[in-house]
Amino acid sequence: MKKSIAKSFLFTALAALPFVAAAQPTAMKPVPSAAKEQRMQWFKDAKLGIFIHWGIYAVDGIDESWSFFNGKISYPDYMKQLHGFTAAHYDPQAWADLIKRSGARYAVLTTRHHDGVALWDSAQGINVVKDTPAGRDLIGPFVQALRKDDLKVGLYYSLADWSSPNYDVFTRKEKRYTNDPVRWQRFVSYYQGQLRELSQRYNPDLYWFDGDWEHSAKEWQADDTAKMLRGYNPQVILNSRLPDNGDYATPEQGPPITRPAATYWELCLTTNDSWGYQQRDHDFKTPTQVIGLFADTIGMGGNLLLDIGARADGTIPQEQIDILDALGRWVHQYPQAIYGTDAGVPKDYYSGPSTLSADHQTLYLFVDGKPNGPVLVKGLMNKVVDARVLGSNANLKTQLIGNSVNIPGLLYIDLAGQTLDPQMSVIALKLDGPLKLFKKPYDATTGS
Ligand code: GLC
Repeated sequence: MKKSIAKSFLFTALAALPFVAAAQPTAMKPVPSAAKEQRMQWFKDAKLGIFIHWGIYAVDGIDESWSFFNGKISYPDYMKQLHGFTAAHYDPQAWADLIKRSGARYAVLTTRHHDGVALWDSAQGINVVKDTPAGRDLIGPFVQALRKDDLKVGLYYSLADWSSPNYDVFTRKEKRYTNDPVRWQRFVSYYQGQLRELSQRYNPDLYWFDGDWEHSAKEWQADDTAKMLRGYNPQVILNSRLPDNGDYATPEQGPPITRPAATYWELCLTTNDSWGYQQRDHDFKTPTQVIGLFADTIGMGGNLLLDIGARADGTIPQEQIDILDALGRWVHQYPQAIYGTDAGVPKDYYSGPSTLSADHQTLYLFVDGKPNGPVLVKGLMNKVVDARVLGSNANLKTQLIGNSVNIPGLLYIDLAGQTLDPQMSVIALKLDGPLKLFKKPYDATTGS
């Protein structure tokens, strides 16, 4: 039930984005302004972020907000979880340190989900400081810990608040009102007021909006909201779920198959099947799968925002710590192939993920597992001046076959005898200049 709803709004949300028109040629991409490029630089270079869903839904371990919205549990029963939300073992520095170890360069924490429970001492609405045993601001200490570890700060905020008396939608079946502009305006002032508090107190580097699908950009007065936030911090990055004002697209769960058209995008993905903590969900992705998904994402020019769900007492499940640590061990071995890179070559040229150094003179090929034979790259116009497996000093043997005057042919890279990473190795091909790919369509009548 929840899934189908989540999916349908997701598709609506994505349909509005250039992202779904995936296979568009690069030439059609909207060119970002210099100011936007500069603002987006750290985000583009960061590649990995950690998403944390934390809220009262962790008490019973049920779907965040959706469980009452979809009638799996009554609203009063859902709200009873307020009494069990203790944050008793919350250690924000341990969270930040774990995120640092994972290789992520930013984190995004849920400050207020669709259930309306704020994790800081907001002047309005329900919050964990006055309404739960946690009894304190949970956002500030985390923001501080992230900054101490030199990580960028992202705050998730749901525009929709199904608990607010001034919000029109209550559950999937019940609405509080229709067509009441005065009441709606009260809601807009409420949510903009909360955002003002977040900006003034924590000055985040990024806002991760959500819950926009029930209203239009105009109804949300999204332009004013963006202007207000940029007034506090002109460099702040906004995701696409503040409609009409997003800096980057946010595909959710489904990893893109071909390179998205959006210049900036971030795949958000759960480590198991739930955003928040759910003790019954043991369907964890393996570290190898996560590493593969991550390589694939950066190979197509995107970021990965990998989600974990904290327990009501503030601890993080060991399975998720283990996934983050395994990912971190891998990321920290190959930083040059990850941070600050550009998307690599399309899969027609190399069948796995790849990235390019910022000067485009080194092509990094990600090699999954243990290949049976040599690795193949097609259509490379450049000469390879050096080929090696990252982490080893040995030069790799290469062989070029099928090349003619204008066609670069096939480049085979021999990995025999190399010690490979059981998870994913990286081959660095140093080129004689910026990457040039053969692009002319093959003409069957002339054979060239
Ligand atoms: C969807 C869901 C929400 C989750 C979010 C994360 O918008 O409504 O529960 O927090 O995805 O991307």
